Amino acid sequence: MNLILMGPPGAGKGTQAEKIVEKYGIPHISTGDMFRSAIKEGTELGKEAKSYMDNGELVPDEVTIGIVRERLAKDDASNGFLLDGFPRTIAQAEALENLLADLNSSIDHVIRIDVDTEQLVERLTGRRVCPTCGATYHVTYNPPKVEGICDNDGTELIQRDDDKPETVRKRLDVNLQNAQPLLDFYQDKGYLVSINGDQDINQVFHDIDEKLGGLK
Ligand code: AP5
Ligand code: ZN
Repeated sequence: MNLILMGPPGAGKGTQAEKIVEKYGIPHISTGDMFRSAIKEGTELGKEAKSYMDNGELVPDEVTIGIVRERLAKDDASNGFLLDGFPRTIAQAEALENLLADLNSSIDHVIRIDVDTEQLVERLTGRRVCPTCGATYHVTYNPPKVEGICDNDGTELIQRDDDKPETVRKRLDVNLQNAQPLLDFYQDKGYLVSINGDQDINQVFHDIDEKLGGLK
């Protein structure tokens, strides 16, 4: 199954992606995670991406499309994938259509997670992540067993650089400018599935799973 997970910053894409890839056995392809790894490794890609990410802006289309093209060409993506945070612009969506056509493939579903803007600010500013395994927590909604410590590996949790309040506001603005044309693009193709993201994490997953046919 070839899936796209869409939704504003903080909608719960990463949280739901962990559950979807575990159940459906497909790779999780997150452009945000790929950029964060490149930053950690200090590569040229990382240096370029960081300047945009720290300001809450989008990394240029040609850079982002390039890394997705490379990733989709890998063997493990040939039997399905979950794209998280890509595409974010019409140029990216069109490039993806072409990339998949070249691979004799296409998208099955675009899952859009909807959440109120006020909730998004609270979710992003309260988010904590594990720098070792990438697990995501929330100080109130999804706390680790021991405050500030990852359940999986005991690492001290950190806040993402772009989760500072001023950057969060910018990211939400950028999303507002780009979201509707993309939703229209996928609605017109008949791929779009909307999920109410203003529910607890397990209920959101239940609704996604139901739409994907996993509960049949
Ligand atoms: P990216 O990493 O994709 O970030 P984002 O889209 O802003 O999304 P987030 O990761 O912030 O949120 P999420 O929806 O995954 O929510 P999460 O599950 O963590 O992109 C970062 C940057 O990279 C961009 O700004 C851009 O610069 C660049 N970039 C990436 N892709 C790009 C592209 N295609 N083109 C150009 N540039 C690109 O949940 C958030 C919090 O809420 C967590 O604390 C979680 O525990 C909690 N939570 C989750 N679900 C619930 C729930 N149901 N109830 C209560 N709390 C919940
Ligand atoms: Zn961890």
